[in-house]
Amino acid sequence: MSKNTFGALAFLGIALAGEANAAEVKIAEASLVGNGIAEFVPEGFDIIGTPELILSHDPVKTGEIPAAWKFTPRYETNDNGCIVATIAVPEGTSLYGGGEVTGPLLRNGKTIKMWNTDTGLYLVDGGKRLYQTHPWVMGVRPDGTAFGVLFDTFRKAELATGNDKIKFEAEGTPFKTYVIDRSSPQEVLKGLGELTGTIEMPPRWAIGYHQSRFSYVPEARVKEVAETFRKKQIPCDVIWFDINYMDGYRVFTIDEQQFPDPKRINDFLHDKGFKSVFMIDPGVKVDEDYFVYKTGKQQDVFVKDAYRNEFHGKVWPGDCAFPDYTRPETRKWWGNLYKDFLACGIDGIWNDMNEPSVFDGPGGTMPESCIHLGGGNLPTGTHGMYHNAYGRLMVEASRDGILAANPDKRPFILSRSNLLGGQRYAAMWTGDNGASYEHMRLSIPMSLTLGLSGQPFNGPDIGGFANETSPDLWGNWIGFGAFFPFSRGHASCDTSDKEPWAYTKLEEKESRMALERRYRLIPYLYTAFYNAHTDGQPVMAPVFFADATDASLRAEEQAFLLGNDLLVIPAFSENPALPKGNWERLSLVKGDTKGKYQADMRLRPGAIIPVGKVIHNLTENSFDPLTLIVNLDENGTASGTLYWDEGEGWGFRNGEYKLIDFIATQKGKTVEVAIKDANGSFPLDLGKVNVELLRNGKTYRASGTLDTPVIVKL
Ligand code: NOJ
Repeated sequence: MSKNTFGALAFLGIALAGEANAAEVKIAEASLVGNGIAEFVPEGFDIIGTPELILSHDPVKTGEIPAAWKFTPRYETNDNGCIVATIAVPEGTSLYGGGEVTGPLLRNGKTIKMWNTDTGLYLVDGGKRLYQTHPWVMGVRPDGTAFGVLFDTFRKAELATGNDKIKFEAEGTPFKTYVIDRSSPQEVLKGLGELTGTIEMPPRWAIGYHQSRFSYVPEARVKEVAETFRKKQIPCDVIWFDINYMDGYRVFTIDEQQFPDPKRINDFLHDKGFKSVFMIDPGVKVDEDYFVYKTGKQQDVFVKDAYRNEFHGKVWPGDCAFPDYTRPETRKWWGNLYKDFLACGIDGIWNDMNEPSVFDGPGGTMPESCIHLGGGNLPTGTHGMYHNAYGRLMVEASRDGILAANPDKRPFILSRSNLLGGQRYAAMWTGDNGASYEHMRLSIPMSLTLGLSGQPFNGPDIGGFANETSPDLWGNWIGFGAFFPFSRGHASCDTSDKEPWAYTKLEEKESRMALERRYRLIPYLYTAFYNAHTDGQPVMAPVFFADATDASLRAEEQAFLLGNDLLVIPAFSENPALPKGNWERLSLVKGDTKGKYQADMRLRPGAIIPVGKVIHNLTENSFDPLTLIVNLDENGTASGTLYWDEGEGWGFRNGEYKLIDFIATQKGKTVEVAIKDANGSFPLDLGKVNVELLRNGKTYRASGTLDTPVIVKL
């Protein structure tokens, strides 16, 4: 790889030349580090050259690699100093992953670059490099068994997922490779979670709908938007504050003209059942009279240029200094800034521009020659070394600070840049997309791929960030966008309004309906987030997860699964490939099966899903009643789970949750629906429960308390 450049031609040309002169690097150590997880350590690996930032802990060796083990990487160096790891792929394997990517879900024959970049409209490098880095590939073999490969480095790299081999070429010193070989894609993702950790349980409000724009100012406009949601009875939980709330784009300040009393606006939002999320960027305005810059300078926390002077580059406020998050001291200083800031009642934080984006820097970032001092287990290194870890180290510092400020609350952070494993600290969105049908369609494989790369809590700017959104585009997008794990409308500063009511009455009605469907599904969705937290499962999954042996599903990227049991088929879909079996069509809100833009939703045979009432924000009670929607399989049985807890705080770690398994069994002309098992001490009184059994397009209803089974007559 050419040093310090990503010029596409130079990159490829040199790489090919390098291949010709490749020198093999032997594997020094190989061992099992978990069930079906192998670790390969090449000769020359040293933890100083390749410090650990992806894995959540040091894996413990559990034994020798079995003789029948199929996937062993081959390492070599090439003559431009890169390390190349190659893994042969069995014939007929479908490849996925790579994190944040444009293009199709099925990644066979694709190449991406890992160098986090502020890429408006995904235009940089033809969409081959985006804001995040996930050196991870999952392969699904023809028989539905699967494997995953994690290249454990955050250095500048290129990942090529060819049909017969996976090739990963990275700058820096030799890196470890982890291979997970298991019985299914779900098991492989569980293994990825065992290596990298999984998302923390989000506060429940974060799985509601979010409304954003660049920017809602002043206070009166924020109130107007919030009040309109409530007046129009369109469900929404969160209003977002983009950079214009700041005093001259100074992070950790609030403009007194726009928001004379920040606590007042947060109290107003809280009274109406909203939460607030405020943006914090890494760039700190160079201003000797500004407390963040002043204390940062005093404590010497900023990144240095090659001559060891404080590096300055332009972002929104003009000249900025950039915290050196590789330093423990900097992370502490940064984290401490949140305490006073959050004290006015701010609920969540949005870390943006953290690739980092530097408007006047080479390639839109800081020079690779800048110096990060490191500390703890991180050595001093250049920005070229740490670039792809910058956002991840920032969100770790943010999370630690937010948690220290409010120890009883679950932090919610949204980040634009991150690294594989960074799902432990922050959710993400897919950056600056555009208001086009192309980006609307693309938003599905992008989100799916992130879910297959360890980041289940993600979503795009619904409606498209840049350019004008037509009513039809909005209608189409919100019709299925209501089911993204992270569901947020956002818009750039120079566009017309993009709230659900900004179009015609039709789109307003369709938005309400789509979001009411999401809010009815909250018990089911929250349970899916619990599975993401415990087992690393995607919340939004590709259709082939329903049957990994069905080759016809492997490339499906219009329809998708929400959790294990719900199929979402967007209104725009043409001939989607769907799983076999009688997936029954589902209605959640009156009229939704006929709505112009509503996704067609279907329930898996053999599934029971827990569904709540239509509510308009998550301070309301979803239950009373709980509805169990049932679709029997061919044996006349079905099962499902509800996870519930306080929705906030950490009581669930001490057993204060309720995990209920439901079961349905057909007995002749009746179906018994009962609780099979219930665990945890959270006091959830289900009271009366409604059962809706779907069968051949008809709904059979019954209700009862579930103290004894509810009997549905067919
Ligand atoms: C870039 C982000 O991607 C976008 O979402 C945000 O609105 C602008 N920065 C302004 O903060």
